[in-house]
Amino acid sequence: MSVTDLAVRLAELKKHRRAVILAHSYQPPEVQEAADHVGDSLGLSRLAAGTEAETILFCGVHFMAETAAILSPEKTVLLPDANAGCPMANMITPRQLGLWRERNPGALVVAYVNSSAAVKALADICCTSANAVEIVAGLPRDKRVLFVPDRNLGRYVASRLDRELELWDGFCPTHERMLPEMAEAARREHPGALLAAHPECRPALLDKADFIASTSGIVKFCRENPAREFIIASEIGILHPLRKENPGKIFHPLTPVADCPNMKLNSLEKMVWALEDLEPVVSVKPELAQKAWLPIARMLES
Ligand code: 13P
Ligand code: SF4
Repeated sequence: MSVTDLAVRLAELKKHRRAVILAHSYQPPEVQEAADHVGDSLGLSRLAAGTEAETILFCGVHFMAETAAILSPEKTVLLPDANAGCPMANMITPRQLGLWRERNPGALVVAYVNSSAAVKALADICCTSANAVEIVAGLPRDKRVLFVPDRNLGRYVASRLDRELELWDGFCPTHERMLPEMAEAARREHPGALLAAHPECRPALLDKADFIASTSGIVKFCRENPAREFIIASEIGILHPLRKENPGKIFHPLTPVADCPNMKLNSLEKMVWALEDLEPVVSVKPELAQKAWLPIARMLES
């Protein structure tokens, strides 16, 4: 089937299934183009919580679809490729977090949404990269904070708030590939370009950035900043919305190897199959969903 035929079939199925298509900005361009909404983890969770659709086709990775299923238990949540997981989310298990909590009585646990439902269920509050600083700033200063699983986001939050956080040693393999030397080389090659980085990058790279924010923060920064040229230290999928929204500006990826293989497992064909077969479904057992809902709801309310 051609891309046009797939898009036509997708539109028919969307109507038939009363579905909404949500896509993270790291998805392949054609998947983003076929979506009703493109955004970051925070924006997409808000949309998943508020949609009236019966079916959510979540083009992202497993933890995102799982979050949607927790927020909208009455809806059918589909992930086009069941194998689209997040390696960082798998870097902490509920057993590991349970033991860490036990060793730190009285400490508060902040779980980055890039974590499993079972890990979220053990957390006091969730955060995304868009609100992590505000979420931690809202916690009582006299409490110790355990931050899981992203050590880089945790370190960034700690430095922004000048507050000590206990960090789990997880990381995003895609963002970890970006090195400070690459920033120096990119600046030499593109003098005058501004460097925008995602806080999942290493601290040594973040030190070299002009601006640090979540994917939606980077999109907003590049839209509003009058500069013409930008170097982007984030997963390369984000270059699609940046270039589409800003035809007069030039965007360079810090490196083309910042390509998340999990995000790229979804495709137009798999989206069509998912809506035809109503699978792969992502669901969370009600008892676990209830426990995981609370820290997510606290985040969305704050
Ligand atoms: P955002 O929090 O900016 O959506 O990105 C996180 C991420 O890496 C999604 O995989
Ligand atoms: Fe996980 Fe990183 Fe891929 Fe996001 S980009 S899904 S954090 S591995």
